[in-house]
Amino acid sequence: MADASMKDLTLKSSTSGDANEESFEGITEVREGKAIIRCDKKLNIFYNATQEVNRDISIVGVHAHILREKKDDVTLVEAMAASGIRSIRYALEVKGLKKVIANDFSTDCITSINKNSKLNGTEDIVQPSLNDANVIMRSQKGFIIDLDPYGSPAAFIDSAVHGLEDGGLFVVTATDMAGLAGGNAGEACFARYGAMPLKIKSCHEMALRILIHTVQSSANRYGRVAIPLLSLKIDFYVRLFFKIIKSPERAKESCINTSLVYYCTGCKAFNFQPLGVRKSQKIYTFARGPPVSDKCSNCGSIHHVGGPIWTGPMHDKDFVSVMEKTLEDNYSYLNTFPRIEGIINLVAEEVDVPLFYELSELCSVLKVGTIPLPKIRSAILNLGYQVSLSHIAPNTIKTTCPNSIIWDIMRKWKLQNPSPQPLKEGAGFNIMQKESETPNISFDLHPDANPASKENNLMRYQNNPTRNWGPGVRNAFKGQQKSEDKRIANQGKKRHQRKEPGTSNKSEPESSPSPESKCFKKDDSTISGEEGQEKL
Ligand SMILES: C[S@@+](CC[C@H](N)C(=O)[O-])C[C@H]1O[C@@H](n2cnc3c(N)ncnc32)[C@H](O)[C@@H]1O
Ligand SMILES: [Zn+2]
Repeated sequence: MADASMKDLTLKSSTSGDANEESFEGITEVREGKAIIRCDKKLNIFYNATQEVNRDISIVGVHAHILREKKDDVTLVEAMAASGIRSIRYALEVKGLKKVIANDFSTDCITSINKNSKLNGTEDIVQPSLNDANVIMRSQKGFIIDLDPYGSPAAFIDSAVHGLEDGGLFVVTATDMAGLAGGNAGEACFARYGAMPLKIKSCHEMALRILIHTVQSSANRYGRVAIPLLSLKIDFYVRLFFKIIKSPERAKESCINTSLVYYCTGCKAFNFQPLGVRKSQKIYTFARGPPVSDKCSNCGSIHHVGGPIWTGPMHDKDFVSVMEKTLEDNYSYLNTFPRIEGIINLVAEEVDVPLFYELSELCSVLKVGTIPLPKIRSAILNLGYQVSLSHIAPNTIKTTCPNSIIWDIMRKWKLQNPSPQPLKEGAGFNIMQKESETPNISFDLHPDANPASKENNLMRYQNNPTRNWGPGVRNAFKGQQKSEDKRIANQGKKRHQRKEPGTSNKSEPESSPSPESKCFKKDDSTISGEEGQEKL
């Protein structure tokens, strides 16, 4: 990612006699995609280099939507534009955009947007706007809305889905993962998003599905439907793409794709309680429940209840394939091209079922050595069920196979690989006491045991590329040096490390990190401080 560079031009200007460079005093320069952004360090402007992949993937997704909807002369509203880098890049790098409204409620940001739009020659397309995000999204008709807030987007979703033209694209980021993915107690998430998260390995997929539920219920209130096109967990945030259409009729369908989650605290199995069922083409009725007994039928443990979450599709596979082609045809220059290619391929492979298992967690319930991924995939495929990885983490299993059969497979693996440590009471012990109800379980290698994305050696999972990796600080252009000073001062001191929910120290990245990516966050405490401002 060599081009995603952030230069401090102060030193250069003060030592140089060149008249042009004189004007750069106190300016930081960023090059990303086809844009150059210069920001005065005295201004209070947000920029996070680590979100280059967020901007790149958004450019490809917006372009794909315009192509798919056969549109030109499109208006895009960026409700929170900060330095203007994203709006300017849309104007420079996406065909079919007539107007990009770069809105922010900070006058410093508008100064930056004006100057940088001139610098990049995008004044004809980029229209700076000083307004509150909710006001601009409701008052300005657009075919595309990009919402990229600090922390939670919850307070802005209603305006976005209300303001879009029919068939338009809503692209949204949420970085408040501590709440959304169940890191804290669930009530804060419920207050913001109307759903309870769970502390589970697939909490980040649950976060995506909670946000889809929130967007869907906002859209449905206006007789609209939010069709999820692409739902991604990337690094420390989620980024989702929705097509918003007017259809009071289809809005009623949401009840069948909205479910409570029953999660077994012993064997990690999940079951879903839909809130409605389809009776006939356009008629819906009450669902039967509950989907589980008081105690788990696999292991006898109790359940936790989460949700409601969206249990319909998270991605539109046709949109994903248009995105892949759009990427290949137009964006080979992007620094994050290999990463986006990997993510899109993983998403294309994902089985369309909610949530996933994590391999080491299944094995730890039975205290058995980790079953190799191709082995368990083969066992599932040999029984005729679908299986895939999740784009969110390696060593994951998304499958149509019922959880009782997953445990029959794991029981057989344990019997073939006995461990010296006997299982005492508990979930694993109870599972091993049961008889298998699934004959013909075979670990023989299935032809699809390895996914195509692995066979093709695509970049799939990436570790945090730098030390200070996270949502960033409000004035990144100013904070760069302080961050480094503080890091040096803190060397050797024991620091309190926040662990992101759902992360495991054991998970192995399958691709090498990208050393050039930068994040200009000051330190861990700044992150908490920023999120603190978002707290309810
Ligand atoms: C995370 S930054 C946006 C980053 C930008 N989209 C990018 O890609 O670099 C959030 C921005 O939202 C602005 N903002 C926060 N609340 C707002 C509101 N209610 N209305 C308008 N702008 C707002 C802040 O001034 C800040 O510049
Ligand atoms: Zn259980």
